[in-house]
This record gives sequence, structure tokens and C-alpha cells, in this order.
Amino acid sequence: MFAKIVLAGAIVLAPFFYSFAQHSYVGVKTCGMCHKSEKAGQQLSIWENSLHSKAYKTLQTEKADKIAKEKGFTTKAAETPECLKCHASGYNVDASMLDKKFSVEDGVQCETCHGPGSDYKSMKIMKNKEEAVANGLKLYEKPEDLCITCHNAESPTAVEFDFATMWAKIKHNKPE
Ligand code: HEC
Ligand code: HEC
Ligand code: HEC
Ligand code: HEC
Repeated sequence: MFAKIVLAGAIVLAPFFYSFAQHSYVGVKTCGMCHKSEKAGQQLSIWENSLHSKAYKTLQTEKADKIAKEKGFTTKAAETPECLKCHASGYNVDASMLDKKFSVEDGVQCETCHGPGSDYKSMKIMKNKEEAVANGLKLYEKPEDLCITCHNAESPTAVEFDFATMWAKIKHNKPE
């Protein structure tokens, strides 16, 4: 009886997992090709100048390894999934889901927040918001909900998170 229910659940859920799994990561360099000019809104350089671009490298420091050790992890911080989950993207997916230009070292990058971009990155799709979203682009009506998935007390170095102040430091809107 129980086995039957589990099996039925697996069959119903399988297509969902498949449709989430099929978008792969192209990496910030690819997004940056079209998102660096003044006309586009310079999202690339805003990101490069933010600490999100350094989030993986931060895990490669002695300080990070010390924190990981104190938390009881036996691996280096940059190899510890419990650290990587807020400091990087793509570390936990099959290599076939990563474009050659994708690098985990780019830390919290465009696709960490906007979703893996293989299927929405073409100019034709990008120019149509509905189509982009249908192909995996994530946008946020309430950005703060996204921020606090990482900026919270689970961070070993957590500091208070004030959305207005923090958003002002990374905001990268399209020009009016
Ligand atoms: C081939 C060029 C190109 C590439 C590559 C590209 N974009 Fe875009 N993107 C655009 C253009 C052009 C727009 C503006 C569309 C508009 O204003 O109608 C846009 C819009 C967006 C928007 C705003 C959507 C909206 O309407 O609010 C986001 C977010 C975005 N891109 C993220 C990304 C991410 C993340 C990547 C990498 C995975 C990426 N883009 C790659 C050209 C590109
Ligand atoms: C830490 C999360 C985060 C990262 C990293 C990030 N974004 Fe965004 N992005 C947001 C949020 C939140 C918004 C504002 C709400 C929205 O439009 O969904 C936004 C808005 C945008 C917009 C403008 C939408 C508009 O209508 O004005 C574009 C374009 C965009 N992002 C592209 C990028 C690109 C390209 C990168 C990488 C170079 C990037 N983002 C990195 C979270 C992020
Ligand atoms: C995937 C996890 C993740 C998400 C989502 C995220 N951040 Fe971050 N953020 C980090 C990490 C990790 C750092 C620290 C990077 C480092 O120091 O190397 C950071 C650092 C920052 C910093 C630099 C802190 C400082 O004192 O200057 C700002 C600003 C920031 N985030 C704003 C935001 C905002 C605003 C959002 C939501 C729109 C957001 N972040 C979403 C993980 C995230
Ligand atoms: C829940 C998300 C989250 C997890 C899990 C997480 N971090 Fe972070 N980390 C952040 C955020 C957000 C920041 C930036 C601001 C802050 O400290 O809250 C940050 C900043 C840092 C910094 C720089 C801050 C400083 O004071 O130098 C180090 C180092 C660090 N994290 C190491 C780690 C290590 C090691 C682990 C794993 C044991 C880890 N983090 C797990 C979200 C996280």
C-alpha cells in the first residue's frame, strides 16, 4: 500500500523535476556580453564591484576554513556544501548542466538570482519578458524575500540585514 503511494507520487512529480532540471548555467561572462553597456544599465560592472562576485573566493580564505572547522565540518570551506549553498551556484549540479564559460568561482552571480539562463539568454527571448520568464528567467516582485534566503542568521558571520541599504549597494535596474 505504502509503496504504491510512493510510486504514484514519483510518477506524478517526475515531469516537474525534469522541467526544472533542463535549464543549464551559462555563467556571468555570457550574461555580461549584453548587460555591460551604459545603455543596457551596466549590470556587469555593478556586480563585479559588489561582494557577490567575491563570495566564492571568500570561502578560500583562512578565516573561512577556520569558521568551517569551528562548525564541525571536516572539509575546507570552499568544498563544504553547507557553505557553498549561499556563496556560489552550480557546485551541486551535473557537469553537463554547466557551459564551458561557467565558473563556480564567480560566486553569487546573475544566474544564482535570475535562474540558469541557457534557454532565455537569446536576444529574441530576452526582449520578450513573458517568454523569458517561461524559459526560466526569475524576476522578483518583492526582492527582499530573495535576499533573506541567504542574508539570515544561518550565516555564521550574520550581520543585521537592512534591505533598503543593501539593495542600494547592488541595485542594477534597466535605465529609464
Ligand atoms: C544576447 C543578449 C543578452 C544576453 C546574452 C542576456 N541578456 Fe538579459 N536582456 C537582454 C536585453 C536586450 C534585455 C532588455 C529587454 C527589454 O528591455 O525589453 C534583457 C533583459 C534582462 C532582464 C530584465 C527582464 C525584464 O524585463 O525585467 C534580466 C533580469 C536579464 N536580462 C538577465 C539576464 C541574465 C541573468 C543573463 C545571463 C543568463 C542574460 N540576461 C543574458 C539581452 C541579453
Ligand atoms: C543577489 C541577486 C542578484 C544578482 C547576483 C543579480 N541580480 Fe539582477 N536583479 C535582482 C533583483 C532582486 C532585481 C530587481 C527585481 C526584479 O526585477 O526582478 C534585479 C533586476 C535586474 C534587471 C533589471 C530589471 C528591470 O526591470 O529594471 C536586470 C537587467 C538584471 N537584474 C540583470 C542581472 C545581470 C545581468 C546580473 C549579473 C551581472 C544580475 N542581474 C545579478 C537580483 C540579482
Ligand atoms: C545566494 C545567496 C545570496 C543572495 C540570494 C543574496 N546575497 Fe547578498 N551576499 C551573499 C554573500 C555570500 C555575501 C558575502 C560575500 C563575501 O563577503 O564574500 C553577500 C554580500 C552582500 C552585500 C555586501 C555586504 C556589504 O557589507 O557590503 C550586499 C550589499 C548584498 N549582499 C546585498 C544583497 C541583496 C540586496 C540581496 C537581495 C536582492 C542579496 N544580497 C541576495 C549571498 C547572497
Ligand atoms: C545562509 C547563508 C550562508 C551560509 C550557509 C554561509 N554563509 Fe558565509 N556569508 C553569508 C552572507 C549573507 C555573508 C555576508 C554578510 C554576513 O556576514 O551575513 C557571508 C559572509 C561570509 C564571510 C565574510 C564575512 C567576514 O566577516 O569576513 C565568510 C568568511 C563566510 N561567510 C564564511 C562562511 C563559511 C565558512 C560557511 C560555512 C561554514 C558559510 N559562510 C556559510 C551567507 C552564508
